[in-house]
Amino acid sequence: MSPSVVIAIDGPAGTGKSSVARGLARALHARYLDTGAMYRIVTLSVLRAGIDLADASAIADAARRVDLAVGFDPDEDRSYLAGEDVSAEIRGDAVTKAVSAVSAVPQVRARLVELQRELASAPGSVVVEGRDIGTVVLPDADVKIFLTASAEVRARRRTDQNIANGRPADYDAVLADVKRRDHLDSTRAVSPLRAADDAIVVDTSEMNQDEVVTYLTELVAQRAGVSR
Ligand code: DC
Repeated sequence: MSPSVVIAIDGPAGTGKSSVARGLARALHARYLDTGAMYRIVTLSVLRAGIDLADASAIADAARRVDLAVGFDPDEDRSYLAGEDVSAEIRGDAVTKAVSAVSAVPQVRARLVELQRELASAPGSVVVEGRDIGTVVLPDADVKIFLTASAEVRARRRTDQNIANGRPADYDAVLADVKRRDHLDSTRAVSPLRAADDAIVVDTSEMNQDEVVTYLTELVAQRAGVSR
């Protein structure tokens, strides 16, 4: 039997991170932990409680009390708030707009980081996806991967996604937003987005999703002695 491995996957939006992390978990028969979903569940509970997004102490309080759960199947996106399946709702616009403010609150991060460590430590291999997994959550992960892609490629992917979903798609506006968020994410005080010193940085600008998954599966096999 293959040994268990813990794999951290970080990087900004638009690098194909979620699909790649799911694909890798599938290829390795590992569990998949989507930490972004956890920040989204807390955000939904904050919105439902009618809390002002500028009120960090009320947000911290809500995070302390939130009853959340997530699934580990890479083929099934399952998120629960107090037992209710909120998998679709946490991907909606309201949560997407508010999640940055909620995830910037240090007490929210502290609570979720603790939970993420607990969930990742269950027996068996796991692929954990987020922004601060290799740097903060699991600094001892067996393999750390940091996905990147040029701002232009990420903006193009998001524009195409918007078109596919029937949403307005202005490439120049999307590109400006990608650059603005890159700056905010990499300069914020709490857990700025950056590659861990020992992360393998993979630029996905010129690769499709399947190519990235194949590449990473081989990389994990080499690094951690795990095969498909
Ligand atoms: O990956 P995503 O878009 O579902 O993440 C939702 C938000 O949560 C995003 O604004 C970044 C934040 N996040 C974070 O701060 N730390 C993580 N480990 C994962 C997500």
